Amino acid sequence: MYVCLCNAVTERRIRELVAAGYRSLDEIQLLTGCADTCGSCHDHAEAVIASALAAPALPVMSIETHSGQLHSPALS
Ligand code: FES
Repeated sequence: MYVCLCNAVTERRIRELVAAGYRSLDEIQLLTGCADTCGSCHDHAEAVIASALAAPALPVMSIETHSGQLHSPALS
């Protein structure tokens, strides 16, 4: 399900990023553009992050940014 229609950011993508170690909307915004355009998804995105933090998934070793680069939060 899309959280951010403007930037095609899904709930699954946000949960993957939280599992990868990103803990704030600011961090996820930099990687995905979520809430960067109209901003109407801001509160929903924060709720998804809070939900993901409350029920963590298995860790992710690296993620691909919206520019196509791989990033490993554990190494930064
Ligand atoms: S829906 Fe996310 S910035 Fe517009």
